[in-house]
Amino acid sequence: MDSRPIGMFDSGVGGLTVLKEIMTQCPNESIIYLGDTKRFPYGSKSKETIIELTKRGIEFLISKNVKAVVIACGTATSQALEEVQKCYDIPIIGIINSAVRYIKEKDYKNIGIIATRGTIRSKGWQNKINEIIPKASIFYKACPLLAPMAEEGWTENEIAKLTIKEYLEGLKNVECLILGCTHYPLFKEIIQKELGKDKEIINTGEMLSKRLTQILKNNNIENENVQNRKYDIYLTDMETNFINVASKFLKDDKMIEKIYKCDF
Ligand code: DGL
Repeated sequence: MDSRPIGMFDSGVGGLTVLKEIMTQCPNESIIYLGDTKRFPYGSKSKETIIELTKRGIEFLISKNVKAVVIACGTATSQALEEVQKCYDIPIIGIINSAVRYIKEKDYKNIGIIATRGTIRSKGWQNKINEIIPKASIFYKACPLLAPMAEEGWTENEIAKLTIKEYLEGLKNVECLILGCTHYPLFKEIIQKELGKDKEIINTGEMLSKRLTQILKNNNIENENVQNRKYDIYLTDMETNFINVASKFLKDDKMIEKIYKCDF
């Protein structure tokens, strides 16, 4: 039994889509969520910058005594995960591996990926899919406008519909579409409508949370006492739309009360 929290890291609200899955699948665990709103967006930054920011974020979380870290950001997973796993001696997981394993189990061969520019450029998804599913055909598209729109709360309006229509042109023949940026599940309904009901939309937080439960079990660090569970959110800049988007998405005002300013 280990009552220390799980640390989570993203550039903004996107990681909340992962947080929601972890809250469902690991209901006993405390969570410390760090949103680097001061430096958002990560998707247009260089690999060196992403590695540096990810390390600093993880060190902040470790200073809060976390027992494991979830990189709830596709951009940081694709460019910094391998690097940071070498630097710290607690389990650190990202969004790619568990999702690719799931796609292999489902035997999908025509796979679409949408993500930030940095993630697509890094080939993090493409390389992992080629390694695990060598016969797969991969179709991908960088969608740089979507994460800023999600931060703004524009996930259901006409502009969101048109933007998604434009981005998904050319991805209509895939069997599944990976939401390679954790902000994108906020557009899931529009994306599903645009692609059609027969296509599976891969929300990476679902697969990551399953993997996290295994890791906690294998390392014998599960929290068994739900009484002492708590959720804290830290932001590096409070003057953003995070609180509005988070309260609409999480539908839990108590969580929103516990948002603290920090820096790292
Ligand atoms: N949520 C992030 C991702 O999964 C970052 C988006 C951004 O900061 O550009 O890639």
